[in-house]
Amino acid sequence: MTAEAKQAMVGNFDLDRYVRNSKKVDISDIDLTQAAKYPLSAAEIRSLTYMMDIESHTIVYLRSILSTCAIEDPDTTAFLSCWAYEEHFHGRTIGQFLAANGIAHSRDRLVEVQQATSYKEWLKDMGASLICQCSRHFHAAYLTYGAISELSTLEGYGVIARRTENPVLAEIMRRLAKDERRHFSFYYNKARIRLQHRNAQRLTTFIIKHFWLPVGGGVKPDAEVDWILSFILGDPMGVEIAARIDQTIAKLPGLSWFDRMTRSREESLKKTAHKLELKPAQTIAGWPAAPATREYRESAS
Ligand SMILES: [Fe+2]
Ligand SMILES: [Fe+2]
Repeated sequence: MTAEAKQAMVGNFDLDRYVRNSKKVDISDIDLTQAAKYPLSAAEIRSLTYMMDIESHTIVYLRSILSTCAIEDPDTTAFLSCWAYEEHFHGRTIGQFLAANGIAHSRDRLVEVQQATSYKEWLKDMGASLICQCSRHFHAAYLTYGAISELSTLEGYGVIARRTENPVLAEIMRRLAKDERRHFSFYYNKARIRLQHRNAQRLTTFIIKHFWLPVGGGVKPDAEVDWILSFILGDPMGVEIAARIDQTIAKLPGLSWFDRMTRSREESLKKTAHKLELKPAQTIAGWPAAPATREYRESAS
C-alpha cells in the first residue's frame, strides 16, 4: 500500500473511496407509481415521516457540528461534505415514497420541524461548541454519538424492510441502509482512533451518559421518540437488535459500559401505553438477520 493510499484509510474505512463514490441514493429504476398498490400501515407512515424529518434535519445538525472542533479534522470535513448530501437525499426519497402513497408534506417542512425542536437540541449544540473550546477530545464524543446514530438508523431501516408488506418500501429501505452502513463505518472507525486517549474516553463517557438521546431525540417530541423506539424495537427481535447495537458500541475503547440502547428501549416501552401492532420480523433475501460486528465495522464500501 502506498503512503498516499494509507493516508486515505481511517482505520478499516477507505475514506478516499467513499468520497470518490459518494452519490445520492438512486431509485430511478423503482416505479413509485406501484407503491400505492401494496399495503402501507399507519405505523409505517408515522415512522417514515419521523425518519424523513430526521434525515432532512441533517443540514441543521451539520451547522452545529461545523461550529465545533470537528472542522479542524480534514478526514471529518471530507466525510461530512458527502454525508450531508447523501442524508438530504434520504429525506427526499422517503418524502417521494410517502407522496406516491398520497401523503404529501409542505416544502416548509424543515422549518416547521426546526420550530418544534426542543430546548434539548439547542442545549446540545451550545454544549458541544463550549466543550470543544475546553477539550480537543470532544471530537471523540461527537464521532461516538454519530456511530450510535448511524447504527440505530441502519438497524431501524432493516426492521422496516423485514416487516413491511410493501416491496417498494422494502427496497427503498435496503438502499438507504446501504448508505447508513458506510456512514456508520466512518464514525466507528474514526471514533476508535480518537478514543485511544484516556481523556477522550472519560469525556465521551461523561457526554454519552448525560446527554445522549436516541435518533431524533431533541428534534422530535419525547413521546414520538418513545413511540418509534417501541415500534422498531418492541418485539422480541428488538431485544436482540438493541443488544447488538450496545455490544458493538461497547467494543470502542473505554465504552465497555455502553448499554444505552437496551435501556432506552425498556424505558420507552414502559412509557408507551398503547398496544403496538408488531409483526415478527421476517428474514428476507439479501438481508442478514443478525449482521456480525465485524461486518458492521469493515463494510467501508
Ligand atoms: Fe440517512
Ligand atoms: Fe446516515
